[in-house]
Amino acid sequence: MALLPILTAPDKRLKQKALPVADVNQKIRQLMDDMLETMYAAPGIGLAAPQVGVLQQVIVVDVGSEQAEQQQAAPLLLANPEIIRAEGELPWKEGCLSVPDHVAEVLRSASIQVRALDRNNQRIEIQAAGLLAVCLQHEIDHLHGTLFIDHLSRLKRALILQKLKKQKEKEKE
Ligand code: NI
Repeated sequence: MALLPILTAPDKRLKQKALPVADVNQKIRQLMDDMLETMYAAPGIGLAAPQVGVLQQVIVVDVGSEQAEQQQAAPLLLANPEIIRAEGELPWKEGCLSVPDHVAEVLRSASIQVRALDRNNQRIEIQAAGLLAVCLQHEIDHLHGTLFIDHLSRLKRALILQKLKKQKEKEKE
């Protein structure tokens, strides 16, 4: 296993669409395992492949005890995740490893059903509510080049991106 560098906004690679995985082979399993290790080390509760510069539809999620309550095996390592049902509304204060030091409230669906391939290349369906539903929606967004700040007003987004840009310039010095 290996730790992968996490891209931070603004970065055009975070705005690109990821491609579906043909099947979950050894290479994809390795990517999933490396992503999970990277997520735990960060630490975070979700990570999408574009955040480590890989434009493939792969996400990893582990929201801990809440996930266990919902009887979803934790962690979730998924390829080609797709939301097939969404209900209700749930505002949630979100952060992102690619948008360090910023949180903002985003309106998400309260409960969702997701179809995906698991680490064994098996088709699975996941019912999720609460934090797990929010986290899955956030990570699936990444696969479409969407960050949580893209759900905010243009002004709020511009302010956050400006701060992140300054921070990056400082780190370069
Ligand atoms: Ni994120």
